[in-house]
Amino acid sequence: MLTLDRKQLADHIKASVSVVDVVNRYVKLSKSGNNHKGLCPFHNEATPSFLVSEDKGIYKCFGCGEGGDAISFLSKMEGISYSEALVRLADHAGVDQKMLQHMQGSKAHYSFEKEFALLKFAQGFYQYYLLNTAEGKIACDYLAGRGITKEIIEQFNIGLAPRDGNLLIKALASNGHSFEVAKHAGLIGQNENGDYYGRFRSRIMFGVTNEQGNVVGFSGRIYLSDDPTEAKYVNSPESNVFQKSRLIYHLHEAKKTARVTGKIVMFEGFLDVIAAHKAGVSEAVATMGTALTGEHVNVLSRHVREVILAFDGDKAGLAATAKAIPLLLASGLQVSIVLIPDGLDPDDYVKQKGVDAFRQLIKNPLGAIDFQYEYLKQGLLLETTDGKLEFERRLIAFGNGLPDRSLGQALLRKLKDELYVKQQRNWNAHEKQQEGLYRRPTYHQSTMITPRLEVMSGEVKAEKELIYYMLLDRQVFEWVLVQIGTAFNIDVYRKIVQAIEAYYFENKVMNQTEFLNQLDPQMMRVTQDIIYELKNRPQRWSHEMIMELIDKVQKGALKLAHAGKKELFYEASHEQQLAMMGELTAGLVH
Ligand code: CTP
Ligand code: MN
Repeated sequence: MLTLDRKQLADHIKASVSVVDVVNRYVKLSKSGNNHKGLCPFHNEATPSFLVSEDKGIYKCFGCGEGGDAISFLSKMEGISYSEALVRLADHAGVDQKMLQHMQGSKAHYSFEKEFALLKFAQGFYQYYLLNTAEGKIACDYLAGRGITKEIIEQFNIGLAPRDGNLLIKALASNGHSFEVAKHAGLIGQNENGDYYGRFRSRIMFGVTNEQGNVVGFSGRIYLSDDPTEAKYVNSPESNVFQKSRLIYHLHEAKKTARVTGKIVMFEGFLDVIAAHKAGVSEAVATMGTALTGEHVNVLSRHVREVILAFDGDKAGLAATAKAIPLLLASGLQVSIVLIPDGLDPDDYVKQKGVDAFRQLIKNPLGAIDFQYEYLKQGLLLETTDGKLEFERRLIAFGNGLPDRSLGQALLRKLKDELYVKQQRNWNAHEKQQEGLYRRPTYHQSTMITPRLEVMSGEVKAEKELIYYMLLDRQVFEWVLVQIGTAFNIDVYRKIVQAIEAYYFENKVMNQTEFLNQLDPQMMRVTQDIIYELKNRPQRWSHEMIMELIDKVQKGALKLAHAGKKELFYEASHEQQLAMMGELTAGLVH
């Protein structure tokens, strides 16, 4: 067999991977003459001084002086040794694993050998125990009930940790494995007396492999009871070989298909991966029960151009999807989404609807951008200015994280088309109602006032609070003016706002005494009362708070228009209005 020393391997890798490709996973590069240019990842800079030369296979920052080749770049970015970076890139370059194993002096590879051997032994032990004991029979029955056959058990490194934790200890001892290594790998623990015990007991063990196919840890599922106080899964602890932020379940197998299809399908749980595999979706992977991280994304982008997210169809699954999308898109991957109907997880879906229905689902994913657009709408009242603004803010934040600026702009266009055009109709109707609101009406009897005012109390309070803050800070006034102008619902309040507007037109800063002196006695009294009533209010305000108040005022307008009794507020004399308000704002009228 051909063997390479480290230097030869490094040369081989440097010749077969593109340094631009490697750097591009971390730094957005653009072509600049013969080179590529970007913002240096090793120091903070606003203008790019970081150059990558494809011809020479090197990078160099003229700002901070960092420089090297593809291997040293990866090692610095990931905080791993040169050898480990070498091994990772070797995989990427399609270097045969057997060749790698013969590589001399690769420390990273070498130091894990004992762990790998021990974990592989443990995996064999667990599987033997599952398939050949009375205790194992019960677990096999459980698995059979979940559609997991012997074939799958072998394919997916499934086993059983015996009830008696000593069995593993004995097996390790009689096969010459080190307890220290077993402890380090999280298979056994040690009590105060120094005695060792098996950490996993009475659990079905799902062996987890790394990208190279070595077993690096386990996830153990309970199967005898559904005791909610007991963790459903227990994972191996974090170690130098088992890192949940980086590991992708089943990637070692999935990448074979993924290389051909250019896609990977990501699920939430390993039972889902197994179900997908049975349905013929073999490019199926999952994280280890954690949210998707940037490291996962880097790993994925080494293998595919497109990631299909097929998380559970419940609220948590949707939230996880929405969180994963920007991360994946930011790395330049294409992303699509499979929504599993009825809040099911993929495993249950296959069970209930069959493999054909499942395959059909996977074949027809949704665009990630469309998904995110709908998702970001959630929980917002889009009829309100507040809701629209918040939606716009969310879309802008999302768009800013995307590598392709035009996507963010497309989203905003979509928002404008959909919300403002669609709402134009509503808005027109709203304006008609507003017209009615401000048209000279005839006065109706005051017996009708009270019930409506009770409905309005929150909105009336909001108007007072806004006035209070407008009198404190010109910025609030400008904010209100842009959002609703002077369209307050209570006649006298609207007049006060108009007076505030006139005042700020002439004066940059509010002088309350001067302002009050310009008002007619009635308005002055109302304004003074507002100031007095709210004097203990914190003077600090936030945009959210102001937007909330504005929103209430707008709701008040709609409520009034809806009730068709808006004229009362308009035409009633100050005396009458003050009397009305007196009912809700005790203490306002003396
Ligand atoms: N998980 C975990 N610890 C738990 C629960 C879940 O680590 N206590 C992780 C596992 O990796 C699991 C994934 O989160 O695969 C998804 O959880 P869940 O959907 O609850 O599990 P399933 O894989 O669907 O398993 P099952 O169908 O047996 O409930
Ligand atoms: Mn499940």
